[in-house]
Amino acid sequence: MFAGGTTMPTSDTAPVLPGALGARPILSLRDRLRGKRLGMPWSVPEAMFHEPLVRQKTPIGDIFYIGDPQLARHVLVERAAEYPKAEIELRLFSALFGQGLLGIDGELWKTHRRTMAPAFAPQAVATYAPAMAGSAEAFVGRWSKLADGAVVDASDEMTALTLTIIARTMFSGEGEGLEPLIQEVLRGAPQFSDFNMLDFIPVTRALRMRGREKRMAALFRPLDDAIAGMIAAREAAAVAPNDLLSRLIAARDETTGAGLSAQEVRDEVITIFMAGHETTATAMTWIWFLLAKHPQEAARLRTELDAALAGRTPTQDDLAQLPFTRRLVDEALRLFPPAPGISARVARAEDELAGVRVRKGAFMVIAPWVLQRHRSTWEDPERFDPDRFLPERSEGRPRLANMPFGAGPRVCIGQLMAINEIVFILATLAQHYDLELASDAPVELKHNVTLRPKGGLPMKVRRRSRTAAAVAAE
Ligand code: HEM
Repeated sequence: MFAGGTTMPTSDTAPVLPGALGARPILSLRDRLRGKRLGMPWSVPEAMFHEPLVRQKTPIGDIFYIGDPQLARHVLVERAAEYPKAEIELRLFSALFGQGLLGIDGELWKTHRRTMAPAFAPQAVATYAPAMAGSAEAFVGRWSKLADGAVVDASDEMTALTLTIIARTMFSGEGEGLEPLIQEVLRGAPQFSDFNMLDFIPVTRALRMRGREKRMAALFRPLDDAIAGMIAAREAAAVAPNDLLSRLIAARDETTGAGLSAQEVRDEVITIFMAGHETTATAMTWIWFLLAKHPQEAARLRTELDAALAGRTPTQDDLAQLPFTRRLVDEALRLFPPAPGISARVARAEDELAGVRVRKGAFMVIAPWVLQRHRSTWEDPERFDPDRFLPERSEGRPRLANMPFGAGPRVCIGQLMAINEIVFILATLAQHYDLELASDAPVELKHNVTLRPKGGLPMKVRRRSRTAAAVAAE
């Protein structure tokens, strides 16, 4: 995990590759000990964007930066069992989310994942469509109260929307009271991902971790109590709505028949809340940014939406009729992966990667930010070009060249849900509004688990009139 900030140019043709961002800052040992870090894209060596593998020798051991999709596949898919997630990250997540998927490993993780998988399978995800599209439609109402051209922070607005969506998907109508409690946790949580070298030295690590865990428990307590109350109420209810919470409570491991305990359901609910809304909000924020910078692609999007939907709120069946919208989403997730660096993996045993010896304990950094901009795989990688995801242009591209949701057994469980949600939001809002950047000031990147515009993204909300195609279709 990385944290930090850097500046990105905003002109239409400006490349967004790190190489174009000026000189790489240098951190002194003192800075590092004080917890200051470079963040994406500075935290990765520039060589990574053209080399398959870069090794860095550090006081805590070797760090391998992987840029080649086949090597990433070796670590994340083929030898996944030999490359578990780094313990320090699992501990941090388990302090935050208890025994939710992000904080557990081994047999316990396998059981939870197997038990929960049906709640994220295509058939289940299709049942969440009305909550997603309905929330987006309600959001159109919120913006309709704004004066034309009013300035909003796109980042905050998208967070509010995705929070509503995850609350409705999880708890049907009962989740609204949770939003202020979640906001509180979100405000306090970033400080806990601020690792520094003291976290890698066993004696200081134990002390620092204990203090961190205590503070985290205090931060989460009000939210925990509220969620525990909702789970208890649901378990006692005679008739339960068909939402994600009901599915988690009813879930049974297909091998053993066992379900999740009330505590485990609580942990998974918190995990899904946190993992499932910040990422989609980030994706939507960058989509508005990219559309504002690329009017031609925005026009193509509107034409497709108007022809397929003619002003209607999309349904599950409409998703298949929006191929350009989907390509645009894929391309935005390529250029701005909301989780630009997945959890580090640690070699459990000796291995060899591209002829280089990997010692036991070596750290593996596999970053979507890098793989998805790697010069060996992508032509003109910094250009926004949704059509690169056309089937004919995707032939022969290694699967892990594009991995915004990770890969292998620990791939994002909410991948399908996320894609559908983003398409629902975009297809609903873009039929009614265009967003323009409110300022020419450079956008700075802020990486703290997710990659966001630092200080938010001020944008003007403009009402739009439908195209001739839409009017003709009515
Ligand atoms: C654009 C949106 C999203 C992105 C880019 C994203 C990305 C990721 C990535 C990269 C991982 C793997 C991390 C690793 O290997 O270290 C992951 C894991 C996970 N994601 Fe997502 N995610 C998104 C949306 C969601 C949603 C909507 C949910 C739930 C509703 C969700 C729940 C999870 C969970 C529970 C895990 C842990 C899985 C496990 O370890 O078994 N994510 N996500």
